[in-house]
Amino acid sequence: MANMAIDQREGWIWYNGEFVPWKDAKLHVLTHGLHYASSVFEGVRSYKSAVFKQREHTERLIASAKMLDFDLPYSADELDAACDEAIIRNGLTDSDAVYVRPFAWRGSEELGVPARNNKVHVAIAVWDWPSYFTMEEKLAGIRMTLADWRRPSPETIPCKAKAAGLYMICMLSKHAAMDKGYTEALMLDHLGNVAEATSANIFFHRNGELHTPIADTFLDGITRRTVIDLAKVAGLKIVERRILPEELGDFDECFLTGTAAEITPVAEIDQVIYRPGKVCKAMVDAYGKEVRRT
Ligand SMILES: Cc1ncc(COP(=O)(O)O)c(C=O)c1O
Repeated sequence: MANMAIDQREGWIWYNGEFVPWKDAKLHVLTHGLHYASSVFEGVRSYKSAVFKQREHTERLIASAKMLDFDLPYSADELDAACDEAIIRNGLTDSDAVYVRPFAWRGSEELGVPARNNKVHVAIAVWDWPSYFTMEEKLAGIRMTLADWRRPSPETIPCKAKAAGLYMICMLSKHAAMDKGYTEALMLDHLGNVAEATSANIFFHRNGELHTPIADTFLDGITRRTVIDLAKVAGLKIVERRILPEELGDFDECFLTGTAAEITPVAEIDQVIYRPGKVCKAMVDAYGKEVRRT
């Protein structure tokens, strides 16, 4: 089961307002979203049927679509309800590790760069996905390497959208890191400052301070914002600033944040060693409590 291709699962996918059997949730090969990346998505987690910050994710999906010049044909209330229904329909209400993937794309009516005549489709898939990184990786802390690709400048792409096109360089960076024996890649921004990982934000600790890059040219993660709030409650000082790669050795702990990654301690970035310790543990615990609070 663990190695089963994701498109071969049993279950139901919410597809344009109806549930279709998982294996039949298909689209046409001339889909605009596939050829020209007119596609946006969300990653959401549900813990025993309480979807964490569902409305924030739905609003970001709607906003991402707007940044790609399309409106979703469903309201935020309808999309939230559809996520809940998908969890129930797939029998996952009691699971503590549900991943919810709502996504939207332009269809196949016309194939050319302009897409205003192409229908907007929306689908939601949910499945049990305990962790983006394995538990062994999480406990030991992951090993990262610097990516060759940089986050694009905000003048070159709608960099705040959670849009498929932004992930081309993430995939390439992740593949390159894995080929070198690392788990994850650290991407710099277009000016050479530390930015984020391929699907998660990054934090560094020293002397009671959590330093994290200013999220103005990449996704300001919902987990990132949650962690900032939790860290303040825990008495840590938050410092959002430009961080240079030369500074990586100035910190003692480091961790990633993201809906899929949750809080993932980092053990190394290219020979700079971090020791996942008190701060990582405190943030893992605080986040674990927070997402299960409701
Ligand atoms: C590129 C990128 N950055 C950051 C994040 C973290 O965002 P969030 O905490 O909202 O999941 C994600 C995950 O969605 C991501 O894909």
